[in-house]
Amino acid sequence: MSVTISVLSQKGGTGKTTTVRSLADILSRIGFDVLAIDADPQGNLSDYFDVDPEAQPTLGEVLAGQARAADAIHDGVIPANLGLAEAELVLAGKIGREVTLRNALRDVKRRYDVVIIDCPPTLGLLTVNALVASTHAILSTQAQHFSLQGVEQAMEIFNLARDTLNPELELLGVVLNIANMRTKHAKQTLEALDERFPGKVFDSVIRQSIAYAESAERAVPILDYKPDRGVDYLGLTAEVVTRLGMPERLGRLEQLRLDTLPARVLAETEPVGTL
Ligand SMILES: Nc1ncnc2c1ncn2[C@@H]1O[C@H](COP(=O)(O)OP(=O)(O)O)[C@@H](O)[C@H]1O
Ligand SMILES: [Mg+2]
Repeated sequence: MSVTISVLSQKGGTGKTTTVRSLADILSRIGFDVLAIDADPQGNLSDYFDVDPEAQPTLGEVLAGQARAADAIHDGVIPANLGLAEAELVLAGKIGREVTLRNALRDVKRRYDVVIIDCPPTLGLLTVNALVASTHAILSTQAQHFSLQGVEQAMEIFNLARDTLNPELELLGVVLNIANMRTKHAKQTLEALDERFPGKVFDSVIRQSIAYAESAERAVPILDYKPDRGVDYLGLTAEVVTRLGMPERLGRLEQLRLDTLPARVLAETEPVGTL
């Protein structure tokens, strides 16, 4: 079974790109064939994957119909650059503009277990294309600048994609990201999310740490850069795998946890799959 997951939010800076990079890394470490897609013209995900900035073709050429998706895969990622913004503008005037990515990915999807799409910070045509091409979506919300209104805007786009073009689309979950759980605000945010999305909020909260910006700067995944910081994303991946109905993968994830986390962190945390 092949799944495609879009990670979206109503704005930038909520940890989307970091979530996509980390999930892609951990899922591939436990044996999934993973394709990541950078759907943000800023190209942050491409940088995080250390793709050559000159790499061609990119998602822009794919959406413009000038290249096949298979030819745009560079080391496990279809990268993006500023040309994607132009491709989005051109796309806007075309028939079938919302289904272009879905059609473009049809052939390559078969080769992967998981395709994971990093959405741009705006809820425009690129995000709609990502959602229409997806089986699942993960909503990322930053604790610090949380607004329920912003979450509703993201859900409007989600509902639009589902109700018009992609009835199968499922909300896989909502993740509280870049959180400082020592603050009252973060706890209140988690409560507000739980109330709005019963059963959908991931128990794994991604805590705030400078290590993520440093790992992005160095273009290495968090588990390689600071393994002890990987604990939150290992937990999130366990929940994702469980919700996708693949609990048989949890054994490998637990092994990865034992192999990568330092003893100090292992002592403080539960085995995966027990959340
Ligand atoms: N858990 C975290 N704690 C602290 N900083 C983070 C965390 N996750 C991501 N960041 C940093 O916050 C900024 C925004 O994150 P990013 O993943 O790029 O969000 P988005 O893709 O939603 O814009 C980046 O500089 C990133 O390195
Ligand atoms: Mg981003």
